[in-house]
Amino acid sequence: MTGHPEGDPSIQTFCGELPRRLVFTGFMGAGKSTVGSQVAAALGWPFIDLDEEIVLAQGASIASLFDSIGEPAFRELESAALASALQRDNLVLALGGGALESQSNRALLSEDPATILVYLEAPLEVLFSRCERQSLSQAGAAHRPVLDDRAAATERFLRRRPFYQTAAWRIDTSGRSASEVTSAILERWERLTADRA
Ligand code: S3P
Repeated sequence: MTGHPEGDPSIQTFCGELPRRLVFTGFMGAGKSTVGSQVAAALGWPFIDLDEEIVLAQGASIASLFDSIGEPAFRELESAALASALQRDNLVLALGGGALESQSNRALLSEDPATILVYLEAPLEVLFSRCERQSLSQAGAAHRPVLDDRAAATERFLRRRPFYQTAAWRIDTSGRSASEVTSAILERWERLTADRA
């Protein structure tokens, strides 16, 4: 199910040029990394998870970066990692849930018609329960410091939602498995590329 039953707005946005980047956004628990990596595998494109890039480059987990350098400095690392990832073509990229809070990140993502921003949406209670399940079921699941304070996390979600909703593609993920969401995205991709052929 897409957020645009009336049609595919990307048809107008990408006239003449095939998109070269699919960028996944949404709150924690949206499925950005799981679905992003599945879509990348299906397209035969590399996949980058922005959080993982930062963790690898810094040699520290996100939670320890929040502790050691603080969230504002983490956000600067995130913006730099985003600018660098967007230099690449034929790429699937999963953002961290907070990346769209930065105006300059939003500008970078919206100014290039070769980049499709994909919002994986679900109600907040579904997102919270997915995150809980992940931390219970995956021994090495990354600790998400932003979830430590539920009330503050709810505020963040509400503050970010209008930014997420600017995405060219909005995909409803509630009640769907990651592979069902991946299939919906691939179908949409096929429609888009068929229209370009
Ligand atoms: C954050 C989300 C996390 C990670 C960091 C901050 C946020 O990414 O970037 O913990 O502010 O929502 P995921 O959305 O991939 O969990």
